[in-house]
Amino acid sequence: MEKMPYQPELDRPRQTGAAVASDWRNALPVMIGEKVTLRELEVKDAPALFAMLTPEEVSRFISPPPTTVEGFEQFITWARAERAAGRYACFAVVPHGMETAIGLFQVRQLEPGFGTAEWGFAIGSAFWGSGMFIDGGHMVVNFAIETLSVLRLEARAAVANGRGNGALRKLGAVQEGVLRRSFLKNGQFLDQMLWSILAEEWRQSKAGRGTGRVH
Ligand SMILES: CC(C)(COP(=O)(O)OP(=O)(O)OC[C@H]1O[C@@H](n2cnc3c(N)ncnc32)[C@H](O)[C@@H]1OP(=O)(O)O)[C@@H](O)C(=O)NCCC(=O)NCCS
Repeated sequence: MEKMPYQPELDRPRQTGAAVASDWRNALPVMIGEKVTLRELEVKDAPALFAMLTPEEVSRFISPPPTTVEGFEQFITWARAERAAGRYACFAVVPHGMETAIGLFQVRQLEPGFGTAEWGFAIGSAFWGSGMFIDGGHMVVNFAIETLSVLRLEARAAVANGRGNGALRKLGAVQEGVLRRSFLKNGQFLDQMLWSILAEEWRQSKAGRGTGRVH
């Protein structure tokens, strides 16, 4: 059970990718980027996420998404309960000018307290190459490091997932190695790349760019 009922988006604190002081366990912040807004998943996002994330081109290299709208509703309810428990955060990606979610970013702790965490993401293929991933990705990494206090943010992407690996490289993640036969997909074991972003390096690279992420 969640600790408090969800409050409508307009009532939530808004921010522009910088750290939030609010307690994210009560409700995730709304983060506004150049192209997308990131906000907490809501049960009403289920039909849009079902349409965006279940096609083969999106799901082929990720853990199987739910196969029905009801399955997405259950996932969203689970995600919000995990957030309330302080173990997990999942943001819906909503392009400016739209109301519906086109994808999601998730961060889960790999150890209590989020020192090491893993993130993942998926967006509908109609929005690939639009710059929305990089816009949302910056905000999620900032949130992970500055709000969740993540020191090491890991990502795994199947070696054959060109876009997934390209997206992580573009964001500044460092490729650490290959996890051989680490991912079972459709009865086949796939190799995965292990990527990481370290809090220290992330902050330095932001400083190197001058003012950091400007919104
Ligand atoms: C991963 C995902 C969110 C990235 O979003 P996106 O909009 O496709 O990402 P971008 O286009 O900004 O970046 C991908 C980069 O990879 C590059 N790329 C594409 N195919 C590639 C390939 N086969 N090899 C290497 N790089 C490749 C692209 O050219 C692009 O770089 P560029 O902008 O410098 O040209 C999206 O592709 C997606 O949802 N994929 C399905 C789910 C998934 O695989 N999630 C990742 C799990 S780790």
